[in-house]
Amino acid sequence: MTIDARVEPALQPTAEDEATLKAETTPRVLTGSARGPLADRALSERVRAVPPSGIRRFFDILATMEDVISLGVGEPDFDTPEPIVEAGIASLRRGRTHYTSNYGTIELRRALSDHLERRYGVQYDPASEILITVGASEAVDLALRATCDPGDEVILHEPSYVAYAPAVIFAGGVVRHVATRMEDDFALDPLQVEASISPRTKALFLGYPCNPTGAVLPDAVQDELALLAERHDLLVYSDEIYDRLAYGSYRHRAFSALPGMRERTILMGGFSKAYAMTGWRVGWLCAPSVILEGIVKVHQYGIMSAPTTAQDAALEALRSGESEVQRMLAEYDRRRRMFVDGLNALELRTFEPKGAFYAFPQVTPATAMDSETFTERLLEEEHVAVVPGGAFGPSGEGHVRACYATSYEQLQEALVRIGRFVEHHRPS
Ligand SMILES: Cc1ncc(COP(=O)(O)O)c(C=O)c1O
Repeated sequence: MTIDARVEPALQPTAEDEATLKAETTPRVLTGSARGPLADRALSERVRAVPPSGIRRFFDILATMEDVISLGVGEPDFDTPEPIVEAGIASLRRGRTHYTSNYGTIELRRALSDHLERRYGVQYDPASEILITVGASEAVDLALRATCDPGDEVILHEPSYVAYAPAVIFAGGVVRHVATRMEDDFALDPLQVEASISPRTKALFLGYPCNPTGAVLPDAVQDELALLAERHDLLVYSDEIYDRLAYGSYRHRAFSALPGMRERTILMGGFSKAYAMTGWRVGWLCAPSVILEGIVKVHQYGIMSAPTTAQDAALEALRSGESEVQRMLAEYDRRRRMFVDGLNALELRTFEPKGAFYAFPQVTPATAMDSETFTERLLEEEHVAVVPGGAFGPSGEGHVRACYATSYEQLQEALVRIGRFVEHHRPS
């Protein structure tokens, strides 16, 4: 479109205007040395605000060692069950090597919708309220990027999964941490949540069952948090990737299934943990259609669609994977009881995890070491890898995270080594 100068003479800039405009808009050419090397300026403030992962160093050391029992990485030791693998192979052989809908295949969305309704009694329309993502990781990232404006505050319990706080910051939001404590079974205290609410609070982030503590939210706490979300008109992000890994009498409830919560919850999950599918990279996100539509925009321009092979394999997981989920769950439970009892017997006080596959022993009183020192020396002296609790938030300090998704025998051997280490370092 051109502007007709004869019709709008006043729009024509004078020579003086032009000179001013030029001075204001021409970038001042500074030499590299005046502004510092490009490498120092390249990263955005958001990225610079996030410290590098505190656990990378340990994995670098670990990579150089032999005979290490790794309880560090949070993934199943089981391979993906055979029928799921076969479904992935068959998908490739059938020539399903193309993009899917941005939302994911309709078959997988329908199966997931049925699954969520059957398990939790919450209904999502497969056509407009479910998105298949690249793992729950992408779901978390998308949810935050699609909903946070700069300066929006997100209330987040800690210790919690290492990726949550960076995802809030990358999205331009501000994290308001609420501490949880072993004395309260690491459950979020609704009173503390309420005390953290400010006029800028946009949302509450829940990641239960919790990585790294293994805590779950008791029904009464969930109910109170739901009332609170309603009263303060908060959005709720709920990462429920460990929903199927629940032990003892605990029965998981999807947060969006609570009265009034469906409309304000972004529910997220995935296939990595329950179906031993970490490498396939497939997860999901459910939300009311107006919210989902916006989230799909971010996914569509950034990712296009989750891997087709992985989606077809995930469909098989929902169709026939239940007995395998139960088999793996029973084995995690057996390990959990042995390992947690073993840690407590070493006087490393350990909360009894009700979900996920992590133990979170308190190491400081027994050894007089902070959690980083404990982790580093345990690795060097006994070749057992765990993760320092401080990596998950300040209240994690004094604890370490040990993943018990490794064989029963390895866990027994780890207990022997940890026992020797603790004995050696008990304060006199
Ligand atoms: C709480 C939590 N959410 C999300 C993820 C990422 O899962 P995915 O493999 O589906 O991206 C993990 C992985 O450890 C996790 O522990």
